[in-house]
Amino acid sequence: MRPIALLIVSLLLTASFGHAAEQPGQQDSGKEVNGPCAACHGEFGQGGKRGEYPRIAGQRPAYLEQQLRNFRSRQRMNLPMFPYTQERELSDADIKAVAAYLAAIELPTKPPDFKDTDDALTRLLAMEKVMIIPRLEGNLENGKRSYDENCAHCHGKTGRGINRFPMLVGQYTNYLQRQIDIYLKGERLHDAVADEEEEDSKAKPVDKPKPIKKGILDRLTEKDINDILAHITHLQDATP
Ligand code: HEC
Ligand code: HEC
Repeated sequence: MRPIALLIVSLLLTASFGHAAEQPGQQDSGKEVNGPCAACHGEFGQGGKRGEYPRIAGQRPAYLEQQLRNFRSRQRMNLPMFPYTQERELSDADIKAVAAYLAAIELPTKPPDFKDTDDALTRLLAMEKVMIIPRLEGNLENGKRSYDENCAHCHGKTGRGINRFPMLVGQYTNYLQRQIDIYLKGERLHDAVADEEEEDSKAKPVDKPKPIKKGILDRLTEKDINDILAHITHLQDATP
């Protein structure tokens, strides 16, 4: 083994032993479940291949759980994800543990201030954890207005999500665009799910006709969507 490989192996060993000794329970089992996931989503849930694998660190736990159940039941179809969510691989308890583990990871959004004495490996390991989405160009004024009007009451004014409504800020733009295309094709349900639950919880007059379910995303132009995505990439520095 070359010296650098040895160094990495010994670092990994001390890191994992140190952690196991420190905190037993759900945190550990979540980390364990995340083992095979890290091959695609990264060791810190930071995502990979420039958005082919979405960022899942820091995402809302209720949303993560729901999506994992949706993949498992094939309500959300994705070939790479499917085998990892099958019953024998991912029980309900595992889903809870891994969602809690991932949700608790806080990725920095700014590169750290390196000291002159930091070596290349320290820098590399630190940069892997940083989540910086390149800015997308667009009409930011229109993007902010459309976002505040159409998206903020579920995804939050700063894009960090609310309860089981997912965080959008800090997510790869091409992943978000791909999901919007999937929603528009009707292969994933967007706000119709939310609407139905909201309606169930409110006593509505019976004579009122049910509105035809065309979602929020269907009402926007391609340009509006681009501007909204541009706005989201500019929200990442805003204080949560
Ligand atoms: C072989 C690669 C691969 C592995 C391994 C993998 N995933 Fe994924 N995962 C993906 C891809 C690709 C997507 C995006 C799917 C899409 O575009 O709809 C995804 C999407 C997700 C999402 C949805 C994110 C969102 O914002 O909606 C979650 C949550 C997730 N994965 C969690 C996991 C967990 C937990 C594991 C381990 C049990 C795992 N993944 C293992 C490839 C993988
Ligand atoms: C009524 C509530 C509501 C509103 C308003 C809303 N969303 Fe969503 N959004 C949701 C829900 C619920 C999900 C998760 C649905 C699912 O299970 O696929 C979601 C998921 C998404 C996702 C996928 C996230 C991921 O990680 O895969 C994107 C992208 C998105 N919304 C964009 C938007 C945009 C852009 C707007 C404004 C034009 C918007 N949403 C307005 C409820 C809402």
